[in-house]
Amino acid sequence: MAEFGSSRLINALYRRSVDRTPIWLMRQAGRYLPEYRQVRAEAGSFLNLCKTPELACQVTLQPLNRFALDGAIIFSDILVIPDAMGLDLFFEEDRGPGFFNPVRTLKDIENLPIPDPQESLGYVLDAIRLSVAELNNRVPLIGFCGSPWTVATYMVEGKASNNHSVIKAMLYDAPHLCHALLEKITEASILYLKAQIQSGAKIAMVFDTWGGILSSRAYFSFSLAYMKKIVQALKEDKAFQQVPIILFTKNGGQWIEEIAQTGCECVGIDWTHDIQKTRALVGHKVAIQGNLDPCVLYANPNKIREEVKQVLEDFGMGPGHVFNLGHGLHPDMAVPHVEALVQAVIELSPNFHTKEA
Ligand code: CP3
Repeated sequence: MAEFGSSRLINALYRRSVDRTPIWLMRQAGRYLPEYRQVRAEAGSFLNLCKTPELACQVTLQPLNRFALDGAIIFSDILVIPDAMGLDLFFEEDRGPGFFNPVRTLKDIENLPIPDPQESLGYVLDAIRLSVAELNNRVPLIGFCGSPWTVATYMVEGKASNNHSVIKAMLYDAPHLCHALLEKITEASILYLKAQIQSGAKIAMVFDTWGGILSSRAYFSFSLAYMKKIVQALKEDKAFQQVPIILFTKNGGQWIEEIAQTGCECVGIDWTHDIQKTRALVGHKVAIQGNLDPCVLYANPNKIREEVKQVLEDFGMGPGHVFNLGHGLHPDMAVPHVEALVQAVIELSPNFHTKEA
């Protein structure tokens, strides 16, 4: 928006020329940072941390204090929406998220409220306002939600799952149930993203971590259709259409053209995609975010630099690239290696942009 018209990240999302490729990292705030582990211990749990705006703000800013990143992402989780719907979210140490009240029947779905973000997710909005004030226009803040399909997988399975058998059974046996649930999550997500934007988020990202487990046909009707509804709802409203939207379907390479046709500004891709081919297919329409294999960070800093150069070369000259990993940072990654990655992008990427930018 106005004061961020000249932000490097926002310019790149609109494929305007930039002096170098902007970079931010999925899960840039998290357990690989000792200062995060300290604040999390202070909070007592991940959920308490999310629900305490001062602490959530503090960890949102932590990676920015270490690395010259071009964006901050609000510290929260995609599962706060179902928590606000009354499913009672919990996180078990090393076993991931779960819900005490998973959704299984039509009655369960009908009983789900559409949460008013001001009332039930006010702690995220407060954390956004605090973070935006703290950032003081240094870089834009990214707001986010999960894709309705990805959020639904957790709501129906009730816990992290290997084969998603419960929601897939529902998808094939009772597709109307699935659609009823997806409609509700979509409605809630639209209100939630709008509230995040009103609180100061300047970019919106939708994380579709589990779209890639679907058959092609199922992907279009159970995942992409609902992400498209979210994009359209923001784009048809003057108050929100200025905010660039990033859609990221992990393992969604084969659907990249359809994703780019939703009206979003940017598609995120994981490392199994060829960024050069992706650009050739959709680079005239959208910016591309990605796509270094996160596991490159387990290699030595020289190798990290080489791999960064390779991603920059594969994308090629000119704007429309937002550097990121193909998925989030892992808790056991070394801080100096993350530093090497960010430095490599800062040092090498100006060569891929024309000087007058
Ligand atoms: O820095 C950031 O990227 C912002 C914060 C953020 C978190 N989760 C914090 C978090 C974001 C954008 C998410 C999104 C999210 N959450 C997704 C989509 C992106 C992805 O990673 O695929 C998903 C599927 C979730 C659900 C979720 N939350 C899982 C499966 C887990 C457990 C696995 C894990 O990484 O521990 C979480 C917990 C979680 N969310 C942590 C963090 C920092 C770890 C919590 C902790 O123990 O401190």
